[in-house]
Amino acid sequence: MIRIILIGFMGAGKTTVGKALAAELGVTFYDLDWYITMRYRRSVPEIFAERGEEGFRDLERRMLHEVAEFENVVVSCGGGTPCFYDNMDYMNSLADTIYLKAEPEVLAMHLRMGKGKRPLIEGKTPEELEDYVRETVQARETYYSKAKHTVDVTLLDTSVKIQESVRIIRKLLKV
Ligand code: S3P
Repeated sequence: MIRIILIGFMGAGKTTVGKALAAELGVTFYDLDWYITMRYRRSVPEIFAERGEEGFRDLERRMLHEVAEFENVVVSCGGGTPCFYDNMDYMNSLADTIYLKAEPEVLAMHLRMGKGKRPLIEGKTPEELEDYVRETVQARETYYSKAKHTVDVTLLDTSVKIQESVRIIRKLLKV
């Protein structure tokens, strides 16, 4: 049975790599944010606006407990998922967890391209964004580093590199 959960900061490529990995392994792919959006019929920014971050984290935890029980899946979670409640220990108890790690400069560059979807970084100037990413990655590292495996995706910006990450993950997990 395959159950792989990808964690890592916003902009690390969890969704892109997760989709490619699931397709290669012939299993179902779930993105936790999409799952939340589908179950609650609200976008992540709408949930933040209506319930605040605390409300979002509560829903996120509950939805994690749904998807993490599925079999033969690759799940990509939100950048903050591992850092709240006992989520990281819970994921480790059920799945092969993989931390997709990248340099803050690279994450900030990816995030500048995908505006409008992430309430935590909305409205930041490029400088503010880079500072926020550097500080938050550092604060979250304690949680991320609990993953069973770490894959460095700093150079992940082409389809060749996505395939390379998938190959590394398959080799690590022998799947
Ligand atoms: C968040 C990351 C987002 C989303 C929400 C909060 C975070 O997911 O869950 O905006 O706290 O890092 P992605 O990492 O998929 O962007």
